[in-house]
Amino acid sequence: MKKILFVTSEAHPLIKTGGLADVCGSLPKALAELSQDIRLIMPNYKALKTKGDVRFLCSLRIDNRDVNILETRMPDSDVIVWLVDCAEFFNYPGNPYTDEQGNAWPNNDERFALFCRVAVVCALDRINQDWKADIVHCNDWQTGLVPAILSLEDDRPATVFTIHNMAYQGLFPASHVASLNLPGQLWHLDGLEFNNMLSFIKGGLVYADRITTVSPTYALEIQTPEFGYGLEGLLTYRNDALVGIINGIDMDQWNPETDTYISKNFDIKTLAKKQINKADLQKKSALPENGQVPVVALISRLVEQKGIDMVIDCLPEMMTMPMQFVLLGAGDKDYEKRLQNLARLYPDKIALTLGYNEALAHTIEAGADIFLMPSRFEPCGLNQMYSQRYGTIPIVRKTGGLADTVIDAIPETIADGTATGVVFSEASAGTLIEAIKRAMLLYTNRDAWNKMQIDAMQKDFSWQRSAEQYLALYNSI
Ligand code: ADP
Ligand code: GLC
Repeated sequence: MKKILFVTSEAHPLIKTGGLADVCGSLPKALAELSQDIRLIMPNYKALKTKGDVRFLCSLRIDNRDVNILETRMPDSDVIVWLVDCAEFFNYPGNPYTDEQGNAWPNNDERFALFCRVAVVCALDRINQDWKADIVHCNDWQTGLVPAILSLEDDRPATVFTIHNMAYQGLFPASHVASLNLPGQLWHLDGLEFNNMLSFIKGGLVYADRITTVSPTYALEIQTPEFGYGLEGLLTYRNDALVGIINGIDMDQWNPETDTYISKNFDIKTLAKKQINKADLQKKSALPENGQVPVVALISRLVEQKGIDMVIDCLPEMMTMPMQFVLLGAGDKDYEKRLQNLARLYPDKIALTLGYNEALAHTIEAGADIFLMPSRFEPCGLNQMYSQRYGTIPIVRKTGGLADTVIDAIPETIADGTATGVVFSEASAGTLIEAIKRAMLLYTNRDAWNKMQIDAMQKDFSWQRSAEQYLALYNSI
């Protein structure tokens, strides 16, 4: 049994901005089920939704600041969570990284540097809990300094750094290095320095014993200039230490048979009940109740990564087709405005909800027929897997985890029962609209469509296999 300290800046259902939280909420539970002694450490944000006891564990003084460590459990689980409590840095409302306007908090470097230092102290049991980690598993740039600082310790745990998204690197002006009080040995071009900036992610990429990312295809892509953002050379150099492990999904939270958010539960035997969820979705979205036309859906952060511009370009032509379009998302204000304009033009065909809404996300997965995910890049992506579980056929671009989890409906795959979606290659509105037309055509053959839904619903996206791969990786270090 390994003692694993799992370091993250978000974990569902405590706090979530995206898929990182889904993964960091469920992977530790899956590792605990494999009998590992795992603890999660994260900042004690104001918006944290803890459930049950939160008790004081200890206090420490770090960088002239008083920090408390609080202890709680993941809701509905035995996994222990250590909360790094420092009001000056974490007791902010809302999002962990930005203010309400979406501007990054100006002291994010100080906030996450402190978080990393505290994680190091806890990993080494300098808080006297009689629990010293064997493995420290870090996630994304917010935790990147942990492997770097630990690398300077003699008797240290092994370190794993998981890349969930190369587009977010935690870059800060070099002038901040001194005020962060980082060990001087780390500040050089083969260390934390990147283009004369301080790079948090490099802390993970340079110093971790193993690097993972969240799909095999993305592991290859990030070694190329298009996806590596200048770090492809380093990743190629560390190729032997780099592996892609596909994310799983929480099979309890995303289960159409038991989902309490949806109007009517269903499974492969009662797939016809999906129609009731469709009617419910149409009603909640103020769209005409019509069982004949497909409901095409999208749930996403509205950012360039997700190909939202391509969808906006396709929408006028989509509106000439017999379909309804439901979108739930928030993000880039320009995309939001353009989507609002289109929704105003087609009130009977487009339902737009701007904001974050967990319940509606489930209602949409249950009620929609087709799910759009035309991402320019996608390290793993979760909604294409949730969609398949709910018999909602995804249209995805062939990149990253989308390429690894959706099988294109071509005559061979339809015939052998492996087809689960529509996959297209080029990142352009023209190619996307062709894929949408292809899905619309498939939809008209109801028997074949039903068969594809059932094949999609039966795919195993559970965490167990991936958690076993992580465990094998821990054991190999
Ligand atoms: P990313 O992490 O890049 O945003 P993923 O597909 O890995 O992409 O995960 C996104 C997660 O966030 C999914 O669980 C999705 O349902 C959820 N999500 C995104 N936007 C919203 C929203 N507006 N309301 C509710 N859930 C959302
Ligand atoms: C990131 C990626 C997404 C991935 C998620 C969880 O947010 O954008 O593709 O699914 O992390 O690993």
